[in-house]
Amino acid sequence: MSDILGYKGKRVVVSGCYSGMGAATAKYLLELGAEVHGLDFKTPDTKFASFTQTDLRDPASIDAAVKGIDGPIDALFNCAGLPQTAPPLDVMKVNFLGTRHLTERVIEKMREGSAIVSISSTGGMGWSRRIPTLMQLIMTPDYESGLKWCESNMETVAEGYSFSKEAVIVWSQFKAAQTIKKGIRMNCTLPGPTQTPMMKEFQSATPPEVFKAVMQPIDRYSTPEEQAGPLVLINSALTTYLNGAVIPVDGGFIGGVATGQVDMSAMMRRPE
Ligand SMILES: NC(=O)c1ccc[n+]([C@@H]2O[C@H](COP(=O)([O-])OP(=O)(O)OC[C@H]3O[C@@H](n4cnc5c(N)ncnc54)[C@H](O)[C@@H]3O)[C@@H](O)[C@H]2O)c1
Repeated sequence: MSDILGYKGKRVVVSGCYSGMGAATAKYLLELGAEVHGLDFKTPDTKFASFTQTDLRDPASIDAAVKGIDGPIDALFNCAGLPQTAPPLDVMKVNFLGTRHLTERVIEKMREGSAIVSISSTGGMGWSRRIPTLMQLIMTPDYESGLKWCESNMETVAEGYSFSKEAVIVWSQFKAAQTIKKGIRMNCTLPGPTQTPMMKEFQSATPPEVFKAVMQPIDRYSTPEEQAGPLVLINSALTTYLNGAVIPVDGGFIGGVATGQVDMSAMMRRPE
């Protein structure tokens, strides 16, 4: 097979490799000939170059996991995440604080030409409305100080999911302007509703009419593979000028909202 995406023999790390988008991403990377190192809280059956059981809520666990992987690391796929049905601080830890900590550790092992992609969500599309607040969190220098900021701002953190996903978006853009000086690219995707194990959690927390609304205009869920494909492309050798980008993978939802073609009324309705 030709290697136009440039993954053959490349050392890549995938968080959240046990299920959903992370598992689909890891599978594509294995097929493309990469040396795949998986991290997750749960142990998968798939055979990777290495798998390390890792808890993104615990910086020591993250440090140990990255220490166990030889450098250089060519690509990082931040796919692990928790839904809003988990405790808000756990959601902040996994979706933002632990993901940021993992990224910082992996960057230490990266060289020029490496790339990082993180999964945010269309649930984070409100990021531009509160950049000053998000920047307070993003400017915290480490995991512990970030956690303290969250604990002191629980009204803003709220259920954790939207705020953590907004933080991933603003952090990816901010950090990308710095990492590119070392030749390391950073981007993020905003998936729409996707048929993964997390879906039943979203459905339990969200009224069906809101779900129908966020599936506009494509009117179906995406598959994990439809999310994995763009992630693999974004970190590939074909996209070396793509940096600091916030990329919706949502069947046209955000574009439909921006151009007034998506009916948002169900999403605006307040619970009785
Ligand atoms: N499914 C959707 O509709 C949807 C939509 C937008 C964004 N997302 C985001 O996509 C990403 C992937 O989610 P998914 O839909 O594939 O769900 P998923 O539940 O299949 O995958 C999430 C993975 O993260 C792992 N994980 C959870 N807590 C962890 C921890 N403490 N330490 C290490 N790993 C942990 C899980 O074990 C699991 O393998 C998440 O960031 C999610 O927020 C999902």
